[in-house]
Amino acid sequence: MGAMDHIRNIVILTGAGISAESGLRTFRADDGLWEDHPVEQVATLQGFHRDPDLVQRFYDERRAQVMAANPNPAHLALGRLDMAWKPSRNRGELLIVTQNIDDLHERGGAARVLHMHGEALSAWCTMCDARHRWTGSLRGAPPCPACGQAALRPDIVWFGEMPYQMDRIYRAIGNCDLFVSIGTSGAVYPAAGFVQEAGRVGAGTLELNLEESLGSRFFSETRLGKASEIVPAWVEEMLAS
Ligand code: APR
Repeated sequence: MGAMDHIRNIVILTGAGISAESGLRTFRADDGLWEDHPVEQVATLQGFHRDPDLVQRFYDERRAQVMAANPNPAHLALGRLDMAWKPSRNRGELLIVTQNIDDLHERGGAARVLHMHGEALSAWCTMCDARHRWTGSLRGAPPCPACGQAALRPDIVWFGEMPYQMDRIYRAIGNCDLFVSIGTSGAVYPAAGFVQEAGRVGAGTLELNLEESLGSRFFSETRLGKASEIVPAWVEEMLAS
């Protein structure tokens, strides 16, 4: 009976660090996005009301960067794990909860992905509540394809707004045997509090990050390194267990 045999259900939290090697900037590094884009201007509802064109331009740029980026070995490894880790294969449930707005997990082969902070390639109509796959610009107030109103905004959870599907996330954490955090600084709640939730239900907690994070002390194990190297190594371990 190996140490990992009891692990059935896994929740994996990812942050900007997993996409850094795909060329997408993180937020809080020296060259992070928040260094040259004041959060209150581009990532709050108040900022959007104050200057919608500034905000739409900011997310147009990020949308273009996401489309130009490609999954890296960390995304591909999680795609392999997602395909193999199923109850039908004598494993358990798996859920990737990402704070990232890029679609690199899905393009890396993962299906069970939950975007708690929204998606760059999605536009949300604040009049009819419809969501639309969006790859172009949102500047100039294009009409909503469903209701025709000029009320589209980036489908992004801004500071001060409630992240998506929190019930589903807490249910998955409540049932997990292993909680893994990849490429996140632990600076933003509620995501930064998930490790303690997992600890409370007796789950194992593993952190994979380039450097110590604000939440490292809450993890039973921390492995430091680049996601493109340490994530595939961890996935091989899981699939060999
Ligand atoms: N491999 C692994 N980890 C990395 C790599 C890499 N190649 N590059 C950077 N990291 C780590 C950094 O050490 C840092 O701990 O990724 C983390 C990135 O932290 P942040 O920039 O703070 O990004 P994140 O934690 O995802 O931010 C959370 O804050 O700004 C909001 O909504 C935004 O979703 C975002 C949330």
